[in-house]
Amino acid sequence: MIRAAVLAGLGTYVPSRVITNDDLSRILDTSDEWIRSRTGIAQRHWAPPGTATGDLAVEAGGRALKSSGSGDVDLVVVATTTPDHPCPATAPGVAHRLGLNAVAAYDIAAVCSGFVYAMASAAGAIAAGIADRVLVIGAETYSTILNPEDRTTSVIFGDGAGAVVLRAGDPSEPGALLGHDLGSDGSLKDLIIVPAGGSRQPVAAVAASGDRPAETYFQMEGKPVFRHAVTRMVASSEAILHRAGWAPESVDWFVGHQANVRILHAVADQLGIDRDRTVVNLDRVGNTSAASIPLALDDAASRGLLTPGDRVLMSAFGGGLTWGSTALVWPEIVTG
Ligand code: ACO
Repeated sequence: MIRAAVLAGLGTYVPSRVITNDDLSRILDTSDEWIRSRTGIAQRHWAPPGTATGDLAVEAGGRALKSSGSGDVDLVVVATTTPDHPCPATAPGVAHRLGLNAVAAYDIAAVCSGFVYAMASAAGAIAAGIADRVLVIGAETYSTILNPEDRTTSVIFGDGAGAVVLRAGDPSEPGALLGHDLGSDGSLKDLIIVPAGGSRQPVAAVAASGDRPAETYFQMEGKPVFRHAVTRMVASSEAILHRAGWAPESVDWFVGHQANVRILHAVADQLGIDRDRTVVNLDRVGNTSAASIPLALDDAASRGLLTPGDRVLMSAFGGGLTWGSTALVWPEIVTG
């Protein structure tokens, strides 16, 4: 029988420092009205300088382990766009700090689709018998890669981390992930990019002046990304609904990547899911990239929206371009 990956724990963490739209409008040519009406975002959390992604990941990971009722896992997967270092991966250090020495640990780089990719990777490891319990963490410190002079990106992203524990179980159990749909289109890789800092353009090649070079900051072409996000999330969600045998109107909660409330509503409309069934927490945390879906799940669970037995559809889209979806029936869990 296929070993399914079953949701057994959930925990999140956001840094305490809140940056409001008004805070940003004091340093950038923008306004609370523009940001709210174009994105739905009212505020985001930015970690204090000196904080790394691994620090947020440890907090969320510890809470997810506690929520699962056991500190015992044999694999840690960290999805992030903002790793602690170009080398090594962030996951081994996080595993060590959580007291999980000697477990397998690696990172996944799929930008805003990272958490969905990481859950698929963990589910594959469980199905193959490589792991019995996996800690999957999405964690980001976008504040470290945002260009403070770029109003088109600085107003959108926030820092945070979210984690789940997946355990081996039966596909018919509540909490079992009901398949995975993943995809990419690398011909559009330049739409979301940090140009320098990798092997294509080493930092040394652009760091002639004392100022931080613009090429080391995050860049995004918002308009085409918006269009592709809607198209790909709709098609990917439809593939998962088909696999799960769910009609769109039977979905209790659509938990999409929290990029822009207009994207979430457009996807819900095209799928035939009522907008009221869309989980939205981006108003309070912004776009937290790989941390977005677990933060939205935790927010919905703690607000009492998600209740055991609910049908939950998750779909993400991000740089790469990448996209992915999965679904589950919400289990009995106490979130951390
Ligand atoms: N404040 C005020 N004005 C602004 C701001 C700002 N912060 N940013 C842009 N503008 C201006 C522009 O300069 C432009 O002015 P112009 O008409 O004079 O040229 C105008 O507002 C409209 O700009 P657009 O970019 O066309 O605005 P749009 O409605 O497309 O919204 C946004 C921009 C919010 C970025 C949107 O395109 C979007 O959400 N895109 C998708 C992002 C996304 O989904 N990302 C997912 C993946 S992210 C990842 O993987 C890391």
